[in-house]
Amino acid sequence: MTSDSLTTFSTRLARFPRLGLCDLPTPLERLDGLSGYLGGPTIWIKREDLTGLGFGGNKLRKLDYVLQEAIATDCDTLVSGGVVQSNSQRQVAAAAAKLGLACHLAVYHGRLTPPSPAYETSGNALLNKLYGATLHDVPWTGDRNAAILRIVEHLKAEGHKPFFVPYGVSSGLGAVGYSSAALEVAQQSQDLGFFPAAIVHCSGSAGTQAGLVVGAAQCLPRTRVVGIDIDAEPDRVEADVMTYAQEAANLLGVSFSAEDVEVVAGHAGPAYGVPHAATLEAMKLAGRHEALALDPVYSAKGLAGLIALIREGRWRKGEDLVFIHTGGAPALFAYAHLWNERN
Ligand SMILES: Cc1ncc(COP(=O)(O)O)c(C=O)c1O
Repeated sequence: MTSDSLTTFSTRLARFPRLGLCDLPTPLERLDGLSGYLGGPTIWIKREDLTGLGFGGNKLRKLDYVLQEAIATDCDTLVSGGVVQSNSQRQVAAAAAKLGLACHLAVYHGRLTPPSPAYETSGNALLNKLYGATLHDVPWTGDRNAAILRIVEHLKAEGHKPFFVPYGVSSGLGAVGYSSAALEVAQQSQDLGFFPAAIVHCSGSAGTQAGLVVGAAQCLPRTRVVGIDIDAEPDRVEADVMTYAQEAANLLGVSFSAEDVEVVAGHAGPAYGVPHAATLEAMKLAGRHEALALDPVYSAKGLAGLIALIREGRWRKGEDLVFIHTGGAPALFAYAHLWNERN
């Protein structure tokens, strides 16, 4: 990694305008308590939960770039979707409120059995309403974008100018946006005087990992990006990472290798949105050693994967790792019952 390669990538990225919706750079902090407890490599955390607007999270970094198009083309409404406790759609709703746009969301039911009555009304579900989004209840069919696109067509027919935000804000441009996180990690780790052997994070709709892979290939070529599958669909996640990474690389005019894409299976628990013992252990360790709030759907499963890999001996004491806290704490309140019963 040289300062030249960071400057070159930063120049390429600067060709893509961003709206300035989120607070960047996000902090990179050392986790002494958790690292000491695990007795292995030094773990650092990239606080993507602190991107700011509307309770923050990883999607804002993508939206900052993607929504530039909505403003440039004079759209009046953002349209997206997700499950009831989707952090992604909550961040779209927050962005719409901030930008003075209307927001319509396809709320998918049936991807998971609601774990509690609070699941339907608390956390992200509550915030969507607070931020003024119009919610459309639709059944989950496995096609993540079909219902969102139907709402887009409906709004067009009514004379509105809707802007389609894909499920998870995952697209080539979304991944371009997220590649900025790899650039930040490169700059910050250089300033802090360490070399990250790996960047580890949870991977779902794949845009986050695609951006990290493309950004790391330019700014941190010896750092491994490790995505932990939390959707229980590792093959689908890997294929989508490849697709969005290729699209992002084309947009940026850079390259990466297919070997840079690693999606680790086996840490999703029984199903998407269903926490298991390792999820709860990760939440507990992050809370008690670092005062960090991880959610049981995404970030805690990501940390559970990292803990398992450390225990398997993949990295040693003396090495440094970056774990990305992708946000998601509002969903915690939909799972409070579980936490109370077990702890
Ligand atoms: C808190 C949180 N972490 C991680 C992810 C996964 O990111 P991606 O969908 O870009 O793979 C999501 C996606 O919804 C999320 O809400």
